[in-house]
Parts: sequence; structure tokens; C-alpha cells
Amino acid sequence: MQLNRIILAPMEGVLDYYVRQILTEINQFDYCVTEFVRVTQHKLSNRTFYRLCPELYNEGKTLSGTPVRVQLLGQSPEWMAENAIKALELGSYGIDINFGCPAKTVVGSHGGAYLLQYPDQIFNIVTQVRTAIGAIPILSVKIRLGWDDKSRCYEIAEAIEQAGANEIIIHGRTKTDGYKAEKIDWSTIGKIKQKLTIPVIANGEIFSIADAQNCLTQSQTNDIMLGRGILNIPNLANKIRFKHSPLNWQEVMQLLLRYAMTPIEDAKPLYHSARIKQWLAYLRQNYPQASILIPEIRQLKSQNEICNFLKTKLDNKSN
Ligand SMILES: Cc1cc2nc3c(=O)[nH]c(=O)nc-3n(C[C@H](O)[C@H](O)[C@H](O)COP(=O)(O)O)c2cc1C
Repeated sequence: MQLNRIILAPMEGVLDYYVRQILTEINQFDYCVTEFVRVTQHKLSNRTFYRLCPELYNEGKTLSGTPVRVQLLGQSPEWMAENAIKALELGSYGIDINFGCPAKTVVGSHGGAYLLQYPDQIFNIVTQVRTAIGAIPILSVKIRLGWDDKSRCYEIAEAIEQAGANEIIIHGRTKTDGYKAEKIDWSTIGKIKQKLTIPVIANGEIFSIADAQNCLTQSQTNDIMLGRGILNIPNLANKIRFKHSPLNWQEVMQLLLRYAMTPIEDAKPLYHSARIKQWLAYLRQNYPQASILIPEIRQLKSQNEICNFLKTKLDNKSN
């Protein structure tokens, strides 16, 4: 299958505005989805939306021009609809709805992947959001293949299409599968696609050009979404699209330094060190040098210390 679109996945607590900024500068993504925002029984404030998606100050685009879509997670059709209207008014590039999150707190309060057990509720939420926002804005829905088995995946996908979504993003695992690599099932995504007329975006376990090709072949889609893979190899999207070489370690270190130097409003004291450590943990899958830095960075607390440490490493080129 021919590759058409590559989309940057939402990753709560990882892929924030600053990382989106960096990754969309060095890759050609078709759009990004924000981390999810939890919708309960009220309208979220402007402040909440701008914190989640500062790109709303820039007409819903990253500084390099990639559109960004706000992702909502909730179980109340009315409040999902109200908040979808608001996100669009503030400039979001469409709306994405999350029915895939497996986090205990989320499923415990009957949101995210929990709703995969109730296709009727999914239908109601998507219908109400579509009715509220009107026919024009793009509405996408992100799901897994099911809760603990895949038996209802077609019913879920058809409900989403009938409710008026423009596209569906499918992470090819059930909630129970978690992130187990051996559970990835791109071919069921392909079987779902055969039943739908709306575009299907395949997601899950794409870490290389070969993975992308296998995913496209098995899922019979033209569109893929990259999550953890882009953190492992920060230019993975361009590697897949243009056969670019992976960034070398010096280039990766420059990205890390840039991230570390970014002043982050209201940042907690350990924000930078936690985030840099987190990114290094992904990078070590492909860059052995990252494993060496992790214990050293662990000793550092302040933003200054981390920046100086990374600068020294870059200057010495001894890492
Ligand atoms: C740390 C983390 C946070 C995530 N946060 C979200 C989220 O906010 N919304 C969402 O729809 N999916 C979220 N996901 C799921 C990813 O978007 C993606 O579906 C999943 O990681 C599979 O793709 P991958 O194998 O390319 O990583 C998250 C995944 C991880 C690992």
C-alpha cells in the first residue's frame, strides 16, 4: 500500500507542546493530536485548552505549520459536545475523541477504553459531538480493537462511522493487550477497513521502515500514526517517508538540550530532569549512548544543571 499521511500520536505526559514543536520541525507530519483532556460534567476553561494546546494561539498549528487537533476523553455526550464546540471556537484543527486509554483512573471512571464494551454509548457520544459541531469540522475517533477481545471491533467501528466521524484511528491491540509487542494485530485493522468508507489510520508498534511497510500491507491503509517510535528515533517520520538516515547522537543531544533549555511556565522543580530522563529511556532503544547518560542525569535536579551537563557533553563530544 502507498503511504499517504503520517500523524503524530497523542501521548499524555510525554508528547507535550514543546516536544510537538521539536518533532514537527524535523519531520513532515500531516497533523498532531494533543494529549487527552478529561471532560467531566462541565465546560473546560479557556486556560485549560490553551495549556493543553498552546498552538491554539497560533491558529491551531505548531510554529512550523503542522495542524494540531485537540483530543477529548469523556463519557457524557452533552459535555463532550459542549467542549468540542469550545475547542473548535478556540481554533483546534478538528476534534479527536479518545476511546482507547487504558489508565486505571480513566477506565475506573468509565472513560477511554472502558467504553469499548459499550458501542451504543460510543455511538451516542460521537453522534452528539457531530450534531453539536455541524457537518464541516473534522471529527476523528481513536480506539483500540476492543476491551478484552476483538469480537466487537466491527460493531464499534461501524457505530463510529454511522455517528458521523470523518476518520478512525485504530491502535491494533485490545485494552487487555496493553503494550505487548507480540499482540499487535495490523491485519484486523485491515478487516475493519474493508467494512468502512471513512479513512482508517493504523497505529501501534511502528519503530522502523520495515514495520511501517508491514503495517501498511497488513492493515491495507495509506495512513499511519507514530507514537513511541518517534521518541526512539526522533526523525522516524522522515526516515519512513523520505528514507532519511536516523539522526546521529550529536543531533539527538542538540534536541535534548533544546528541550532542556525551554523555559516552561509553572514548571515543577523536577520537570525538566523527569522529562529528559523519560525521553532518554525511549532513546536508549536505538542509541546506546542514552543508557550511559541516564544514571548521570539522575543526580541532577535543576534546569541549569541539566543544561550545563548536556552542553558539556556536546562540547566534549565524549558521550
Ligand atoms: C505514555 C503514553 C501516553 C499516551 N497517551 C495517550 C493519549 O493521551 N491519548 C491517546 O489517544 N493515546 C495515548 N497513548 C497511546 C498512543 O497514542 C498510541 O496509541 C500507542 O502508544 C500505540 O502506538 P505506538 O506503538 O506507536 O506507541 C499513550 C501512550 C503512551 C505510551
